[in-house]
Amino acid sequence: MANHTQPIEARATFITLMLREDHRNLRQLFEQFDNTTMTKKREIVREALAVLEVHTRLKEELIYPTWREHVHEQGLDLMDEARETLHVVHALINTLKNMDPEDTRYEPMCTALKEQVTHHINEEEGKMLLLAERTDLDWERLATHVAQRRQSLEQKPLWLLGVPVIVNARETVCATRAVLSGRSGG
Ligand SMILES: [Fe+2]
Repeated sequence: MANHTQPIEARATFITLMLREDHRNLRQLFEQFDNTTMTKKREIVREALAVLEVHTRLKEELIYPTWREHVHEQGLDLMDEARETLHVVHALINTLKNMDPEDTRYEPMCTALKEQVTHHINEEEGKMLLLAERTDLDWERLATHVAQRRQSLEQKPLWLLGVPVIVNARETVCATRAVLSGRSGG
């Protein structure tokens, strides 16, 4: 359970690094969205949906439930709001996946997705990740579960800090921890 008697310094973790990396990819994809052709938009949406599906499933199945056990009241409110946004994102993903791109509602739906994803990123990066990084949960255990799940969902190497990291869950966590401990000292 959470221990609030002593403040814990925020530290970068495999999980929060991975989530920020997903956000960075999504931002880059959606930045190209406004001034491009319809064909390119469809490609962007397809790619964004693939990133988002994994991102939201990992959070709903593993990350948020664990965080909820370790954040205090203010954190729970933030998590409730974030979960609501994720539900909206999920609904938009499902609609877009089943929609004909020729449908006149397709483009407004994509714009709605972009707005909700931007809102989600601001919500998480503004407060929630920092809050989570100050908790004393078992990050290594969570990271191993998340890396395993990600591997089964994606079947491809995860890229972090610009390099593909080892696909084996345990080794991925160990390798990333070494990189992070080098960074947090700076
Ligand atoms: Fe996120």
